[in-house]
Amino acid sequence: MKTRVTELLNIRYPVVQGGLAYLAYAELASAVSNAGGLGQITAMSLPSPEALREEIRKVKAWTDKPFGVNFAIGQHNRPYEHMLDVALEEGVKVVSITGGNPEPLIRRMDGHDIKKLVLVASVRQAQKAEAIGADAVMAVGQEGGGHLGRDDIGTFVLIPRVVDSVSIPVLASGGIGDGRGFLAALALGAEGVEMGTRFIATQECVHAHPAYKEALLKGTEQDTSVIKRTLGAPARVVRTEGSDEILRMEAEGAGYEQLKPYISGERNRTFIYEGNPQKGFGWAGQVIGLIEDVPTVQQLFDRMFTQTEETLRRLQASTEQA
Ligand SMILES: Cc1cc2nc3c(=O)[nH]c(=O)nc-3n(C[C@H](O)[C@H](O)[C@H](O)COP(=O)(O)O)c2cc1C
Repeated sequence: MKTRVTELLNIRYPVVQGGLAYLAYAELASAVSNAGGLGQITAMSLPSPEALREEIRKVKAWTDKPFGVNFAIGQHNRPYEHMLDVALEEGVKVVSITGGNPEPLIRRMDGHDIKKLVLVASVRQAQKAEAIGADAVMAVGQEGGGHLGRDDIGTFVLIPRVVDSVSIPVLASGGIGDGRGFLAALALGAEGVEMGTRFIATQECVHAHPAYKEALLKGTEQDTSVIKRTLGAPARVVRTEGSDEILRMEAEGAGYEQLKPYISGERNRTFIYEGNPQKGFGWAGQVIGLIEDVPTVQQLFDRMFTQTEETLRRLQASTEQA
């Protein structure tokens, strides 16, 4: 399989594992890279630059394939500069950025041989990313898990709009979990995909509590909610008592200070690490409606690309009949 994304990132399949706060560590990242995609470590989930260095070294020990480091810069007040310097010192080949303004990070990478991916949720953000030097954009539609754009644009409209608006390669993100979604993304003009939620329900996502994985398996496409919309930072979760409580408070007009303890990273970890849905919450997208098992990453890739080929054959057969 060859697209500008496989060429740019030097990978076999144009599939990027999204940054996954508190879940994307060396086990998952190396498994995705070994299966032919691009695995990523999420830098801001780690306590220090040295912890990031250790995690990077683990990935290097477990795969000789390229991998990335993700920076979610908007949601943390911690400085990221030293983290980025560690990624550069360690010779990481790809950095992805989401959240706030990516420009200072991109400028800090000037002169380094490193590919820069920016996660966007609108045409305007994609054009800005291209203008400041992104090598590719990952455009996430509103069905995705975790933080979303504010405009509620679904993947099926967002991707062709972004493809028509920039000349750098576009990866489709939000709602993709199998070979049909992968092929549809290519049909929309994307040259690769980013998947988040689907990778949580894999064997190598070792940090996700079994109750979180179980919620993804049991949940249908109707079992997610968007929290924090009233704070201007909409983000999709799998429904838990904890997330229902947040929505109830938002509906009653609670402001940031009141919501803060309920939407904290600690409450997030209460569910995803400890499996407590009464108090905690966990990010997930509508694609949970398509998740029915917890394969290894390799099995997931094998299945996805077998289904991609079958789907292509089915489409070819139906056009030949027409
Ligand atoms: C549990 C979880 C945590 C996430 N954390 C991050 C993050 O730290 N950085 C980031 O760039 N994106 C993050 N995202 C977004 C994903 O990278 C990706 O864009 C999104 O999951 C795509 O939609 P999908 O879940 O339908 O595949 C997160 C998503 C989930 C589900």
